[in-house]
Amino acid sequence: MTEFLDLFPTKFVRRQLPDYEEPTRDLIKLVREMEKGNKSLTTDYRENNPLEYDRAGPNWLRGEINQTVIAYLKEIGIDYPVNWQIHAWTNINRQGDYHDPHNHPHAYLSGTYYLKMPGEGAKKRQRSDVRPNCITFYDPRTGFNMSSIRNDPYVDPEFTVLPEPGLLMMWPAAMMHFVHPNLSDETRISLSFNIVLKWSDDYLPTQ
Ligand SMILES: [Fe+2]
Repeated sequence: MTEFLDLFPTKFVRRQLPDYEEPTRDLIKLVREMEKGNKSLTTDYRENNPLEYDRAGPNWLRGEINQTVIAYLKEIGIDYPVNWQIHAWTNINRQGDYHDPHNHPHAYLSGTYYLKMPGEGAKKRQRSDVRPNCITFYDPRTGFNMSSIRNDPYVDPEFTVLPEPGLLMMWPAAMMHFVHPNLSDETRISLSFNIVLKWSDDYLPTQ
């Protein structure tokens, strides 16, 4: 018997949310209001949780995130109760802003929902490999591309997305990612979150 196993897979969720326009408009409005009280929403990410508000946009997105977590857990085969909290914050990237490679310690899953993206705009004199406003995720198994050849699944060490409003992505919190610079004079706004588990001994693997 011959078996082909996918060992150490990385599960990643990409969902374009239906009917996102109206609740997303409310979220953008909320972010603008919050920014009046705190100009550093992105760096003060441990406070100013936009999903703690009881109003249309946050209520809708909270529901969508919870549904995404439920689907993720089912997909990876977790068939027992899991409790979590959503810790969310706002990312506002203006011209030149970016977020260098990082992961999200002390969380189980992480994700981002995109509220507003700059248009393509006029191409400036940039190199062809510059990908403004994209987000890149890196293969957590560092170096697996080193000896890979074309068409094998490990040949590309990165996965890059140019998000659009209404897109929700979620991944294991340990995955390194990089938010490319915003080179436009339009604002790029997203809402990131960590899924933090409320601990239970049921989470321990059976020995
Ligand atoms: Fe991040």
